[in-house]
Amino acid sequence: MYILGIESSCDETAVAVLRADESGYFPLSDAIHSQIPLHRLYGGVVPEIAGRAHTEAISGLTASALQSAGIDVSALGLVAVTSHPGLIGALLVGVNFAKSLAVSRGLPLVAVDHMKAHVAAASVASVFDPVPPPPYLALAVSGGHTSMYIVEDDVTFREIGATRDDAAGEAFDKVGRLLGFSYPAGAAFDRASAEAYARLCPEEPTVTGYIRRVRPHAALRLPAPVMGDGSLDFSFSGLKTAAVNLLHHAGQTGEAIDRDAFCAAFTAEVTEGICSRVRMALERHTLHGVVAAGGVSANSHLRERLRALCAETGLPFSAPPPALCGDNGLMVAAQGYREYRAGRLADSSLNASAADEP
Ligand code: KG4
Ligand code: ZN
Repeated sequence: MYILGIESSCDETAVAVLRADESGYFPLSDAIHSQIPLHRLYGGVVPEIAGRAHTEAISGLTASALQSAGIDVSALGLVAVTSHPGLIGALLVGVNFAKSLAVSRGLPLVAVDHMKAHVAAASVASVFDPVPPPPYLALAVSGGHTSMYIVEDDVTFREIGATRDDAAGEAFDKVGRLLGFSYPAGAAFDRASAEAYARLCPEEPTVTGYIRRVRPHAALRLPAPVMGDGSLDFSFSGLKTAAVNLLHHAGQTGEAIDRDAFCAAFTAEVTEGICSRVRMALERHTLHGVVAAGGVSANSHLRERLRALCAETGLPFSAPPPALCGDNGLMVAAQGYREYRAGRLADSSLNASAADEP
């Protein structure tokens, strides 16, 4: 079956064609129009600009996704669209477009949860081990979410932990902005941290080496982004605020900040905090492995720590290739196929929702 996957929940308009059947997923095209240059000026996503930019891009992008896949619209068997969570004005563009296409071509339509789609990206293509059979732990880390789910089957996700305030990506972006990185700051943060690990602990130039050898004696202390109440929840606002205060204070006193070393310390707290809660989840539940997904799962240091943690516990670890960690249409098509197989078709009253649960 050929599936058209449509994504417009945030600042990426994405349309892809995926062929899926019992033997697997075969990506045929993956058209993405990033709005980042439009939002960069404001240091974050401006919802109204996002909605307008999706409206401008979506038709042309669909035509090019079909063309690159080498198929005509008549070959499609399913339309899948992200319906939640996200920016409501942005989501509505994709949902309305998908509904019109489905009704005009007489095609079945499925509504896709954006976070489930991120996790499905690992099944389209994965680095590290293949995606384990359910139940497995899914860690979804993006600009808007930091959540852990037990994936019970392809369409049933049970949330066992989530951030109580900011998401990990949001913390990277806000602190990165003060450090002079342009929006979104995650990838630049990743590179700067790598340089610092190489410089600060050349004998073991990784985040693990830094945590083992440098962090215990480091003058720079940042709080852990976790709740201390025994829950599996995260809290990134304390870490973000502490970092912002340190940078403001240095700015006021004229104290020079070693930017890469600052990134290294911040990244170490983020990865350590996330890994501590993944470890607790694996201790509390009997699971077949871990899948990391979402924009922040492209972080090389987080991947290294998660892979090491899984190796220690003897479980497989899987994650999408970096190109499929961010928002894309293939992940929506893949999750759409799963929803379709589970018989969860959307009807003509489908609406978008900004919330995690529609
Ligand atoms: O999943 P995504 O593309 O969009 C949302 O659904 O939010 O995630 C975007 C987030 C941004 O905050 C970006 O800074 C972050 O992913 N990100 C990274 C890296 N690449 C992207 N964060 C840390 N390290 C990276 N290498
Ligand atoms: Zn996303």
